[in-house]
Amino acid sequence: MSKRKEDGKAQVPDPKEERFRGKIDYLRVSVTDRCNLRCIYCMPEEGVKLLPPEKILSYEELTILCRAAARMGIGKVRITGGEPLVRKNIVDFVEMLSGIVPAVDISITTNGVLLSEYAESLKAVGLNRINISLDALDPETYRLITKRDGFAAVMKGINKALEVGMSPVKINVVALKGTNDDPSPFIDLTRILPVHVRFIEYMPQFGNAKNLMFVSGKEIMERIRSIFPLEETREIEAWGPAKKHYRVKGALGTFALISPVSSHFCSDCNRLRVSCNGKLRACLFDSDGIDVGRILRVSDDIEEIAEIIKKQLSRKRKEFSNRSFLDKSGFAGWMSSIGG
Ligand code: 5AD
Ligand code: SF4
Repeated sequence: MSKRKEDGKAQVPDPKEERFRGKIDYLRVSVTDRCNLRCIYCMPEEGVKLLPPEKILSYEELTILCRAAARMGIGKVRITGGEPLVRKNIVDFVEMLSGIVPAVDISITTNGVLLSEYAESLKAVGLNRINISLDALDPETYRLITKRDGFAAVMKGINKALEVGMSPVKINVVALKGTNDDPSPFIDLTRILPVHVRFIEYMPQFGNAKNLMFVSGKEIMERIRSIFPLEETREIEAWGPAKKHYRVKGALGTFALISPVSSHFCSDCNRLRVSCNGKLRACLFDSDGIDVGRILRVSDDIEEIAEIIKKQLSRKRKEFSNRSFLDKSGFAGWMSSIGG
């Protein structure tokens, strides 16, 4: 409730101080800081200093964290990395999560390079929802952005995911000016495949694409509108950062714009994230997450872990103000280490 000043006018609360009051129902779990690609907006080409293996939480420890989260009403868990499919026995982890009571909705964000190998077994242990990062639909641009040759493998992975019946299959495209900012090939893809393409604004605080420029979601949308006849659709539930979804008339798939930069969505953000060494963050911009990993090493007490999650949730603000960890150039660290 807003306080009243002496002159009787309502005092507008500072969103940086105001508690976040939305419902947090989504936990992002990073299982590794390793990756088989080097996307310029996420990781330097030489790689990052990796955590020593003993710092990485086991699947058992991460499952206890997810059980505590589920107990508190967090109904969705997304597995991220680095690249989650490079961690050994990832299928076993999905299976462990699918046994959680009350049940959680499990999803994975992957770069898709290893997906054709794993799609069938992931689906068999209960994984339906998958987000695949794919920034270009030609091998040269793909290589320019990811620094690796993986394009054909990712396309094979997407087809395999569809073939085994995963749904929704989402494709994440981080748009970079002059590089992959022509949305047409992706829109054409939605005409022939039942995928959901999400054009995401590049967040320069996390990447290395300084010589490549930011392009807004609005610009991408204008380009699409100038070429394709569109209709709005509500087929994929809009609980994520994209509220509106579109379809080209007659297309099998859909698309949306996600604009973390031009339309900052803190107040809608429903996520908590944990890094693979157990730092629990209420926000991407939260430099000093709580070290829940330290507790998970010594305790499997669901109630105790749930209390820690609650404590971290109480830190979440309507708008995040902590920018102190940005360096002079405005760099916040590599996204791959935070968990995307
Ligand atoms: N800006 C925007 N999105 C990013 N991702 C990683 N780094 C950035 C960044 N700097 C997102 C991409 C990718 C997922 C793993 O993380 O959407 O698909
Ligand atoms: Fe790897 Fe994903 Fe980062 Fe690309 S965006 S380097 S695939 S973790």
